[in-house]
Amino acid sequence: MAFTQDELKQQVAKAATQYVKSGIIGVGTGSTANYFIDELAKVKHKIDGAVASSEASADRLRKHGIEVFDLNSVNSMDIYVDGADEITEHMHMLKGGGGALTREKIVAAVAKTFVCICDETKYVPVLGKFPLPVEVLPMAKSYVARELTKLGGQPQLRNFTTDNGNVILDVHGLAITDPVAMEAMINQIVGVVTNGLFAARPANILLLATNDSVKTITK
Ligand code: 5RP
Repeated sequence: MAFTQDELKQQVAKAATQYVKSGIIGVGTGSTANYFIDELAKVKHKIDGAVASSEASADRLRKHGIEVFDLNSVNSMDIYVDGADEITEHMHMLKGGGGALTREKIVAAVAKTFVCICDETKYVPVLGKFPLPVEVLPMAKSYVARELTKLGGQPQLRNFTTDNGNVILDVHGLAITDPVAMEAMINQIVGVVTNGLFAARPANILLLATNDSVKTITK
């Protein structure tokens, strides 16, 4: 029997709770992260609370009675748990399908271990089939779009405002053979807040739900 993608997301979210030990947990955004929040609620007695990467995740955590901390009040976190739109064997990720990429990158930066939770459809040889989200200050959107076009991409403005009050350009058609260099290059464009490549700080542990089992991949 083949599991649905949602069932795989649920399984991998449950598997991630083995890394929840104590203290404050960094929590991502999206449907897989939502399943993780629901699983986290079952072990919430172990932790002091969580830092959320979006208002949506913060609301869901609070509904489960999990205290949400401001990142500025937290000096360190053992783990950050989040999904991804794509991930490679090098643990480089493409994220931001849910538009929360900037806060995700900031919360992940504070955590010692990034636990990425994905179903097997997200595991790819090369990043970029999924359009790359770039968060941009509204006044810079046309300029940044022109610069992204020079890099070979086709930017499309998403009908969406981020939690930070900015816009997202989804860049189609980029050949991302060097994600570390591409992440840095796009972040150099004036007006870009950040882009959805998580390569300078890759995942440390990938839990990948396949039809047979949840596999643990580390690098
Ligand atoms: C949100 C993200 C998500 O992790 C990514 O879009 C995957 O989402 P889902 O778990 O719903 O497939 O980066 O900004």
